[in-house]
Amino acid sequence: MDRRKVIIFDTTLRDGEQSPGASLTTSGKMEIAKQLKKLRVDVIEAGFPISSKGDFEAVKMVSKNIKGPTICALARCIKRDIDTAFEAVKSAKKPRIHVFLATSKIHMKYKLKKAEDEILRLAQWAVKYAKQFLEDVEFSPEDASRTDKDFLYRVIESTITAGATTVNIPDTVGYAMPSEFGSLIRSIKQNVPSIDKCVLSVHCHNDLGLGVANSIAALQNGAGQVECTINGLGERAGNASMEEIVMALQTRHDIFGIDHGIKTEELYKTSQLVSRLTGILVQPNKAIVGANAFSHESGIHQDGILKRRTTYEILKPSDVGVEKTQLVLGKHSGRHAFRERLKKLGFNMSDNDINKSFEEFKKLADKKKEVFDEDIIAIVEDSVREISEKYHLECLQVSSGTNIIPSATLKLICDNETIETASTGDGPVDACYKAIDKATGIKGKLLDYSIRAVTGGKDAVGEVSVRVKAKGKVITGRGTSTDIIEASAKAYLNAMNRLVYKIGK
Ligand code: KIV
Ligand code: ZN
Repeated sequence: MDRRKVIIFDTTLRDGEQSPGASLTTSGKMEIAKQLKKLRVDVIEAGFPISSKGDFEAVKMVSKNIKGPTICALARCIKRDIDTAFEAVKSAKKPRIHVFLATSKIHMKYKLKKAEDEILRLAQWAVKYAKQFLEDVEFSPEDASRTDKDFLYRVIESTITAGATTVNIPDTVGYAMPSEFGSLIRSIKQNVPSIDKCVLSVHCHNDLGLGVANSIAALQNGAGQVECTINGLGERAGNASMEEIVMALQTRHDIFGIDHGIKTEELYKTSQLVSRLTGILVQPNKAIVGANAFSHESGIHQDGILKRRTTYEILKPSDVGVEKTQLVLGKHSGRHAFRERLKKLGFNMSDNDINKSFEEFKKLADKKKEVFDEDIIAIVEDSVREISEKYHLECLQVSSGTNIIPSATLKLICDNETIETASTGDGPVDACYKAIDKATGIKGKLLDYSIRAVTGGKDAVGEVSVRVKAKGKVITGRGTSTDIIEASAKAYLNAMNRLVYKIGK
């Protein structure tokens, strides 16, 4: 069997960030980019620089600081987009510009209001224009899987002639079936004369839950690059999940004969980091990185596993970086032990940040006998990694119980000023959220609220996740505390801070 190596193109920071509710700060993007480098992805699509000042800055920062992977910036076939994309990636050691233009009849007629000839001309012009700046140019005919085949071949041929080094075939709306998408890739290879002069890539959305299956079908039919995201984040139902593609290729190498360069032991850590920073939880039954991926509930399965692991496990947890939780620290643990644990958990923090987290750790250890790794991660998230906070919860007092009207009084710090508000509500959380709305002047609608214990035990840290709609946007937020009302307030405030960051208030 022929062996070949697939190029892993990660678009968590671009398409992934387009997930409803997800928004990342520049420092959050940098942190993920550093981890993607550790994961050894080949290409990082760091953003869409024309879309906002924040995105531009983030792509610029990633380009300047992350050496190793190619750094890619997205652009429409518009001069200003391409200029801005180049400005953002130009300091990367290996920069790439990715231009896209829709080619399906429905997109051309209703969205772009342009005829085939004009699309062809624009696509060719954009690749040539980007090519003036750099060698590595990718072109995507958006909605390729619903594009007339002959027209698609012509667009691909003309963009390769114009200098595209990668041509990416997106299943933009997740419409294709695996056999159909595989055939499309094969037919492109057979009908585009210059196809061997470029890398053929795929980008599959997950609207019918087939993103990974379609990507793999494409690889089996000759695609050389796959675009994917951590945890399958992305527009609507998301993109093909990197961890699933990589582990499928690895586990069934006997069928595919396709190698990859991913350091799979970093997958779990990357998934957790992306989840924490985007505020989007990983569903427990998610393949590879979900909390239940390596749990065995039935007695028969447990018995089998004890006799021979491979009876019910096709992957070794350690291959994706899942280790058994170690309980390590308690109230007598010192700064040195804490620092060492942070290192082991993959945090690379300044002394100042370690000191801040250590103080929080000590407070927690006073309330809780055993501090687990998950608690430490929650502490770091809360005390150091907070999104640049416009509003900071200074203090909160809540009263509730049987036969009394729940009420909350709180003090927020906003731009060095103290704001105090109070409210009653249907319950203590409702009262808190109303008091926060009064303080920020932003009325939020709670769409979703969930709470979980970070670890076991009655004294566990509670983690609250919320989805809130405010100012026409949906944002997520997370907060942790041993007091679940405080965790609820922090989660809601975290969402408000993300909103303010997003809309630049
Ligand atoms: O889904 C899509 O078509 C895209 C393109 C920009 C590649 O994200
Ligand atoms: Zn996409």
